[in-house]
Amino acid sequence: MSLALNENTREHVASILQDLLTDAIDLALNLKQAHWNIRGPQFRALHLHLDEADTQVREIADGLAERMVALDMPADGRARTVADDSSLAPFPPGMISCEEAIRHLVDQFDGAIAASRKARERLSEIDAVSEDLVIQGLHVLEKQRWMLAAQLEHTRSS
Ligand SMILES: [Fe+2]
Repeated sequence: MSLALNENTREHVASILQDLLTDAIDLALNLKQAHWNIRGPQFRALHLHLDEADTQVREIADGLAERMVALDMPADGRARTVADDSSLAPFPPGMISCEEAIRHLVDQFDGAIAASRKARERLSEIDAVSEDLVIQGLHVLEKQRWMLAAQLEHTRSS
């Protein structure tokens, strides 16, 4: 197979994308966890919103994994890898108020956004196509972060 990038570069790109894939899968799982376990007056709207966010974050994960494989590098989406390697803070177990769930999820979006921005910077020097994919993901992550945070009455500005 003839690919535009040499093997060392493809390995490097894949390792950057793998970290984002791990976080995206963790985030998607936590969006479903919240979708099921939230309680409170915002339930209906948030329940539906979280499903929409889950679908979009899964699409990000799918795009990252498929980019890795397009570079002839394996993608690792196993639950154990995600549990061991995710950089996101853990989501608490059990029933949870809508507000509490949103705060945890906003923190997780912040983590995924920070990691994606750092990854984009590193990719800009080695693979513009992967960089573009990460930028597309950032559009979604930052929009969903806003839409969750906007449901809090007192949102931290930083
Ligand atoms: Fe559902």
